[in-house]
Amino acid sequence: SEELAAILDLPKVELHTHYEGAAPPAFIRGLAQEKKVDLSKVFNSDGSYAFEGFVPFLRVYEAATTVLQTPEDFKRLGLAILEEAASNGVIYMESFVSPDFCGGGDVSAWREYLAAMVEAADEAERDFGIVSRGIVTCIRHEGPEQAKTAALCAAETVGDFITGFGMGGDENIGAQRDFKYSFDMAREAGLRLTTHAGEWRGPQEVREAIQDLGVERVGHGVRAAEDPALVDELAEKGIVLEICPGSNVALGAYPDWKSHPIDMLRRAGVKVTVSTDDPPFFHTTMRDEYLNLANTFGWDAAVFTDIAKASANAAFCDEATRQNIL
Ligand code: ADE
Ligand code: ZN
Repeated sequence: SEELAAILDLPKVELHTHYEGAAPPAFIRGLAQEKKVDLSKVFNSDGSYAFEGFVPFLRVYEAATTVLQTPEDFKRLGLAILEEAASNGVIYMESFVSPDFCGGGDVSAWREYLAAMVEAADEAERDFGIVSRGIVTCIRHEGPEQAKTAALCAAETVGDFITGFGMGGDENIGAQRDFKYSFDMAREAGLRLTTHAGEWRGPQEVREAIQDLGVERVGHGVRAAEDPALVDELAEKGIVLEICPGSNVALGAYPDWKSHPIDMLRRAGVKVTVSTDDPPFFHTTMRDEYLNLANTFGWDAAVFTDIAKASANAAFCDEATRQNIL
């Protein structure tokens, strides 16, 4: 319909994408051929990423990153993902960038990779009209000591591009509080904070993210929906959820779109936002997310416009940039 077409064309603000996770399979395959890396186990025969479920997804993700070996590789990756996002109507995007995949946590190596990603961001802004920022992320299943090296990289490079610190990885390993040192270091350096919580573990994990790490946004956070008191608390405190419904359905956190709690959370007054997480892995794009949300929950253009505004308000960029997003 005409209304649906208008919805899909709305300007979009995306707060939760993983830099490596946004790599198209053809891009990774091309680098694997150039560098003679055997990635046969990473791809299905149709060329898509091969995994079933969350932990196998993490392993395939990590295998794919082994072909990303130089700052130049990350510049090419950045241009590819920002062009693709812009073609979906994304005008502002925050990506998780990981020192673990960019020199292994060494600060001077990290600076070189980061410079390449900043070049990509500047060129993409000029050529595709998309503004972007980076959130340095640590990886939960790599443990608290490795996380400190990521936090140090973040603290040393806080600036126009790096404006946040976060954590992804396997939520079933360890606890949020194990990473308090790193999050405190990042906060003291002036970085804004988010962490993955409540994607796989229940409401208690979301409480701990807020109480133990003091984050203002939560990656996913959807399982908070199982605890009405927590839902009220999120609404009251204005905690922002970076919700990635297509990712949740693809990884089996929810059996289908109908079962996803995003609409319930929104109606309860929680600040919900919409992102793709790792779009090619989950066969999604921001347009697909909008299409599925409109079809599943009957959201109209006004709802999507509200969500884009809430997302812009929750962006980790400087105030002047934030005012200009929408
Ligand atoms: N890293 C990339 N995607 C992720 C996800 N959905 N959850 C946790 N860590 C991730
Ligand atoms: Zn994520």
